[in-house]
Amino acid sequence: MARLLITGGTGYLGQVLLRQARANGHTLAATCFSQEPPSGDGVVWVPLDVRDSRAVAETLDRLRPEIVIHTAFRQTGPDVLAITGEGAGHVAQAARAVGARLIHMSSDVIFDGERDAPYTEDDPPAPVSPYGEAKALAERLVAAAHPEAAIVRTSLIYGFDAVDRQTQFALDVASGRRAERLFVDELRCPVYVEDLAAALLELAALPYAGVLNLAGAERVSRHEIGTLMARAYGLDPAAIPAARSAESPVRRPRNCALDSSRARSLLRTRLRGLREVLRDLGRITE
Ligand SMILES: NC(=O)c1ccc[n+]([C@@H]2O[C@H](COP(=O)([O-])OP(=O)(O)OC[C@H]3O[C@@H](n4cnc5c(N)ncnc54)[C@H](OP(=O)(O)O)[C@@H]3O)[C@@H](O)[C@H]2O)c1
Repeated sequence: MARLLITGGTGYLGQVLLRQARANGHTLAATCFSQEPPSGDGVVWVPLDVRDSRAVAETLDRLRPEIVIHTAFRQTGPDVLAITGEGAGHVAQAARAVGARLIHMSSDVIFDGERDAPYTEDDPPAPVSPYGEAKALAERLVAAAHPEAAIVRTSLIYGFDAVDRQTQFALDVASGRRAERLFVDELRCPVYVEDLAAALLELAALPYAGVLNLAGAERVSRHEIGTLMARAYGLDPAAIPAARSAESPVRRPRNCALDSSRARSLLRTRLRGLREVLRDLGRITE
């Protein structure tokens, strides 16, 4: 059992990591930023802005975690580079300084998505969005400050205890609350938050250093994800209009599928594909 610190403990992944890590018997600390953390959950909660390098260093020096899982980030806004990019560098420096194992969360959108084949760990980032650029900067800063860190590239994260952003968007479209279309040519390997959290906690106990893809086993388009989720929630999948990302006026990464075969040989935890998870949970029958 280890002393574990989750940055972004109030976030979607952070909350599931905390729940699973508590069940595994770890001693837990977590950081929050704008949200009020829950009370009485046995977690030492610390307000922290990862842009503040001194506060990051002091926090880790005080908590002395053995493992840090860095999930905190912002996807949009003027501070995306400072929070998502430089903030990750601050966490990596502080984790190295106190001798903590570091798992850094990265993303499939560090790629331009112009390939047909899934991306492996050896593929270099080629971002086409400010978020992708910030995540690519984060990877560089983390690798430089903490060479033993594991840099985990993952894909769209979904779950059912709390509905994730992507699924909520699709359900809003399927139920007519939003008039949008979902792309048939944007490919991802969505990962079930429970599988991802279990894989991260397993990885934290291993000496693996460098990039590791942790994404779901099935490659699906955003439109397919939306229609499957609509069915899982008893909505009409035919109500979701299709569009092509290639025709979008904004350049968006298309095929960001990740090859997670290395993780399959390294970890006991299985990262199931979307259809498999939905079948296992009894949400679709086919
Ligand atoms: N969600 C996905 O589909 C997806 C896909 C690929 C990769 N990822 C990666 O997975 C990780 C977790 O994603 P998520 O969806 O679970 O995130 P999330 O729900 O948006 O949570 C983000 C967390 O970051 C914290 N935060 C924001 N600004 C901060 C700052 N300046 N200093 C410190 N903490 C700050 C937030 O704290 P408050 O809530 O208290 O403000 C929150 O706890 C991220 O690194 C993301 O890049 C996610």
